[in-house]
Amino acid sequence: MQTLTLTRPDDWHLHLRDGAAMADVLPYTARQFARAIVMPNLKPPVTTSALAAAYRERILAALPSGLRFEPLMTLYLTDNTSADEIRRAKASGLVHGVKLYPAGATTNSDAGVTQLARCARALDAMQEVDLPLLVHGEVTHAHVDVFDRERAFIDEVLLPARRDFPALRVVFEHITTQEAAEYVAGADGRIAATITAHHLLYNRNRLFMTADGRTGMRPHWYCLPVLKRERHRQALLGAACGKLGRAERFFLGTDSAPHPKGEKESACGCAGCFTAASAVELYAMAFEEAGALDRLEAFASFNGPDFYGLPRNGERVTLERRDWTLPAELKFGDTVLVPLSAGEVLPWKLVT
Ligand code: NCD
Ligand code: ZN
Repeated sequence: MQTLTLTRPDDWHLHLRDGAAMADVLPYTARQFARAIVMPNLKPPVTTSALAAAYRERILAALPSGLRFEPLMTLYLTDNTSADEIRRAKASGLVHGVKLYPAGATTNSDAGVTQLARCARALDAMQEVDLPLLVHGEVTHAHVDVFDRERAFIDEVLLPARRDFPALRVVFEHITTQEAAEYVAGADGRIAATITAHHLLYNRNRLFMTADGRTGMRPHWYCLPVLKRERHRQALLGAACGKLGRAERFFLGTDSAPHPKGEKESACGCAGCFTAASAVELYAMAFEEAGALDRLEAFASFNGPDFYGLPRNGERVTLERRDWTLPAELKFGDTVLVPLSAGEVLPWKLVT
């Protein structure tokens, strides 16, 4: 197969940042995707509909002319989010989900939720108005091994929350484990999951070695939830390609999360992989490895809008089989960022 034509995809989990840095990364996403769910973990976080509306205007103002792109906004859930704020968010028509960051779980999550029980009024209102909860699914207790934090979250947080708020619709964001994939495939239809390209392509060895097997710390592969063992990567590929059943519950969310080069290549490096400049191509590589390129369109373009209750896109995009090398660096405000897999050759290129 030399070309691949798909309905234009959407990105159901994206970090755009703000200001000049946002203006630099936004065109990469807008060139590939019609819409994206924009994460609210700015500093300070996007906690109200008014802040979300203002952020949306800044994104639209930064969009280069000729590119069409619709930012789908989210609110950042805190212990203090009120039921009224949730109702305002729904009524705005601009906010499509409310993001749960357990306090301290990841980049810019200091204002996150300390105990989900404190959010009962907000969660009640969300199930009443049908505004989905988007979860960063990791517990943060110091005694839980970093590689086990997602699995622990299912039992400790997700199951009780789904029992207490049975009508709440949930997106389990950027799942990384077999346990999460199996849970979503086996649960009721009010839960779905996003999967990143990097969790489909790489296991945790990649954090500690190059593609050709030389050892060394690889900070650009560090994200949260962290890459897991090969068995988990295989389970995620299986879920995305329909091997677990219920393929419609799994969809594309890049979790593209740009950071300045110096903050990644550091003694205490930030979590986050920048994939927006090569997102659809990386997913095509993963689906091709699984022998399931025919499954890519549903994952990238149908399952997300169907879950969010939005129309599927009308336009189409084409990928060509053509080797190209990912750039070493890209401009990022007054600094630069290093894309994931910089310098590596990808076999597919988006041409329209
Ligand atoms: C994200 C970021 O940098 O904002 N980082 C990451 O490793 N994925 C936050 C997040 O989604 O966890
Ligand atoms: Zn994220």
